[in-house]
Amino acid sequence: MPSVQPRLADEEPDLATVLENVWHLLDKGVRDRRHGFHLPSVATWNPDCGPTARHVVLRGLDRKHRLLRFHTDARSGKAAEIAAEPRVALTFYDPGEETQVRAQARAELHRRDAAAEAAWRKTRLFSRRCYLAQQAPGTSSEVPTAGLPFGLADRSPTAAESEAGRANFAIVLCRIESLDWMYLSHMGHRRARFAWDAQGEVTARWLQP
Ligand SMILES: Cc1cc2nc3c(=O)[nH]c(=O)nc-3n(C[C@H](O)[C@H](O)[C@H](O)COP(=O)(O)O)c2cc1C
Repeated sequence: MPSVQPRLADEEPDLATVLENVWHLLDKGVRDRRHGFHLPSVATWNPDCGPTARHVVLRGLDRKHRLLRFHTDARSGKAAEIAAEPRVALTFYDPGEETQVRAQARAELHRRDAAAEAAWRKTRLFSRRCYLAQQAPGTSSEVPTAGLPFGLADRSPTAAESEAGRANFAIVLCRIESLDWMYLSHMGHRRARFAWDAQGEVTARWLQP
């Protein structure tokens, strides 16, 4: 009988170390725009066509409350989908880390509260420009268009001009309910799952990859 499983490294990490690593990678995804975790895919449920997924920029992590934050246009399809069905899935992958993280979360759209306001204040003028589009994202057009107001195609708005976008700006806070970690290795992959109950207690276990 084979005596031992192939080892990933001399020291296999324990589950607590793996979870620490996941938080570290998510934090890196917020801070480092070149890291794969900076651009997760977010999947929502559309009642007409089923699951829909798109990439977003990971803007924030509040580890204590298990919140991931991204920004969006309040008129977008995903905003309506989240309002109707708050359960979402986020997927992250970084080739250098050879790690995939999948999160299941409950999403909430914030438009007018202090958290949305603070995020808007920190949003660069160039990024604010997206929220100045005259039509909602996904609106049909007869011609190829960015839909921006005249004169803004090749420059950032001024601070005063950008304020018209505030009404369309929303943040989405996703409270993580479970995380699935997968590490790719030629010695055999590793996979683990972490799930939180309503009291915030975490259950961790290894999975067959
Ligand atoms: C690299 C990249 C980053 C993006 N970041 C965001 C983002 O942070 N927020 C957002 O709403 N859309 C972002 N988008 C656009 C979305 O992927 C999507 O096309 C758009 O939001 C419309 O999606 P919806 O109709 O499903 O709402 C990004 C697209 C790419 C390619």
